[in-house]
Amino acid sequence: MKYLLILIQLSFLFYQVRALGLMLNGLTQGSCLNLGVNQSQTISCSVANNSDAETLMWYREKAQVDIKSENSINISRICLPSVSPDDNGVNFTCLLKRDPTIKLSLMLNVEFQPLLSGDTKIISEEGKNVQITCGYKANPAAVMSWRQNNRTVTFPSRFEQRMTSDTWMLSITKAQMSDTANYTCVAERFNETEVTLTFELIVGVRKPGLPIEAIVAAVVVGALVIAFGFFARRQKICKPCMKSRNNTSM
Ligand SMILES: *[C@@H]1O[C@H](CO)[C@@H](O)[C@H](O)[C@H]1NC(C)=O
Ligand SMILES: *[C@@H]1O[C@H](CO)[C@@H](O)[C@H](O)[C@H]1NC(C)=O
Repeated sequence: MKYLLILIQLSFLFYQVRALGLMLNGLTQGSCLNLGVNQSQTISCSVANNSDAETLMWYREKAQVDIKSENSINISRICLPSVSPDDNGVNFTCLLKRDPTIKLSLMLNVEFQPLLSGDTKIISEEGKNVQITCGYKANPAAVMSWRQNNRTVTFPSRFEQRMTSDTWMLSITKAQMSDTANYTCVAERFNETEVTLTFELIVGVRKPGLPIEAIVAAVVVGALVIAFGFFARRQKICKPCMKSRNNTSM
């Protein structure tokens, strides 16, 4: 009878521990929060089925978020003031201080107009390789393309269009003077809006080989000639006495 009572108590305790959980923005599992740029949002985390007061903690990615102690017992709210494109993909995690394995995360999905950046004036010369780099950020993903002098063109094979996670590039192998043009980096969202950034490329004539090399060559040759002349003369000057020394030694 006594053991049965203990067993009942234990299972009750076990049930309590099992049932303890968190709710993040009213959900009992991790989720995603869609927001627009500059929008503000409060997110709230609460303990469910707790028998005692529980302290909550927040993390923004790996960094703990400072909250007031009165905003940490059983329920806690944090405000995200004016989200920016940099907040896209950031995780906010709420957890129990007593048992950090009890946690829930929410990922921000911040939508914004594509953002383009780059050094828009490029000066190069004939025969050199040129790379035009358009930095971009987009969520949702944008369709990227390049235009030449505001026209959609089929670029010759010397041109290569390449994408990395945050750049859209146009590489030109052995640029020609006729490649001089405005190149527009275009980010399109579902064919509805487009954001552009124009880069001006100027390919000038190939500069003649640097005269400094010729000067260096002339100086080196001149020095050698002088040195050699001096050496030859020294040989001549020394010869008689070397000969005489040789003679005496023999
Ligand atoms: C937290 O919840 C527990 C269990 O329901 C309760 O005993 C305690 O008073 C609550 N504390 C606060 C500050 O709400
Ligand atoms: C690029 O566009 C600007 C503005 O329309 C124009 O003044 C400039 O001459 C163009 N540059 C080239 C290389 O076509």
